Amino acid sequence: MILQKLRIVNYRSYTNSKFEFHKQLNFLNGENGSGKTSILEAVHFLALTKSFRTHSDSDVVRNSELFFQIFGIFNDNSGKENSVNVNFSKTEGKRIFFNKVTLKKRVDMVGRIPVIILSPGNQRVTEGGPAGRRSFVNRIVAQIDKKYFSSLIEYKNKLGQRNLILNSYREKGLSYYDIYIEAYDELFAESAKNIQMGRINFIEKFDKVLKKKYKKISHIECDVSIKINYNVNANEVSFKETFLNRLKERFSRDIVFGRTSCGPHLDNVMIIFDGKEIRQIGSQGEHKIVLVVLKMAEGQFIEGRLKKSIIFLLDDLFSLLDVKHCMKIIDEISSDNQVFITSTDLNGLYNYGFKRGDSNSKVFELPVGVS
Ligand SMILES: Nc1ncnc2c1ncn2[C@@H]1O[C@H](COP(=O)(O)OP(=O)(O)OP(=O)(O)O)[C@@H](O)[C@H]1O
Ligand SMILES: [Mg+2]
Repeated sequence: MILQKLRIVNYRSYTNSKFEFHKQLNFLNGENGSGKTSILEAVHFLALTKSFRTHSDSDVVRNSELFFQIFGIFNDNSGKENSVNVNFSKTEGKRIFFNKVTLKKRVDMVGRIPVIILSPGNQRVTEGGPAGRRSFVNRIVAQIDKKYFSSLIEYKNKLGQRNLILNSYREKGLSYYDIYIEAYDELFAESAKNIQMGRINFIEKFDKVLKKKYKKISHIECDVSIKINYNVNANEVSFKETFLNRLKERFSRDIVFGRTSCGPHLDNVMIIFDGKEIRQIGSQGEHKIVLVVLKMAEGQFIEGRLKKSIIFLLDDLFSLLDVKHCMKIIDEISSDNQVFITSTDLNGLYNYGFKRGDSNSKVFELPVGVS
């Protein structure tokens, strides 16, 4: 998909602004507070009906206004135009229109306009604890594997309920693994197995793409890989039995803590850089490079599944990266995709040979305080 035109009304600091974008590379350049990230956020809103910065739609409404609107015209791979419109009012809530038809549910928009966002908040994927990496993997696999998606929802619900059951057993002074919990675990183990198989299926293929992308954008001679240490170490045939035995073994201890202490919710996703976990050894720039590579690999996977080109939204790409890496990343991503990059200073790129009037790109200079 290619975003051709965007109009935003009462959106963050913008009252009413229109943009016409380049089909390849768009630089949103300006000082702090000039409204660069707001534009990426508006594109994200059109594609996924929500912000990547806030959970509250009201935050986005321009101060002292009651509503915001976003209009976008996207071209699909055949060149056909599609219009998307998001209207939000503080009194009436959010309405989404695709080609002028109201969408009943948010999920109806999923997959129509694939976007990948890189924002400073994503840094937790490489730097933070395992939860951030698990959700990175979950988000990709859920988009390419429907069974995984439904099993993940089911597993999360069942895990929550199971923990409530554990607490109720403790309150009642019960500690034996009875027929009731055994029947419950049988179903719980089924969704757990689907998750584990989905991850096993995915991770090896993803690792190959990750390695290839890394070689393309970095001259640092290192091996990058992604691995999962499965909490339940078992294959498709042995998984259910192994998991059920562990649930049973740990039952009386789990009652004490009110938490299920084994299962795919505790899988450890590791990103290995030069033989060690990147979160232990990576420099700031290396973290950023690996994060960008993870996002590029994600793009390739989603694109392969949806057969639609991805729109990349790269917020603050240049910070922490040297110009050589920036140029390679830009070349690689923009060769097949439309890309939006925010920046406060393009001089480094110009000095490196990037040309402002280049026919492959458009630079938007955003002045502070004007909207
Ligand atoms: N609801 C709102 N109403 C009015 N202004 C807002 C609202 N939300 C944010 N702003 C302001 O909009 C301006 C643009 O914000 P934005 O995050 O897009 O800037 P930016 O160009 O990305 O800046 P930076 O370089 O610091 O990241 C900021 O001054 C911000 O305080
Ligand atoms: Mg910003």
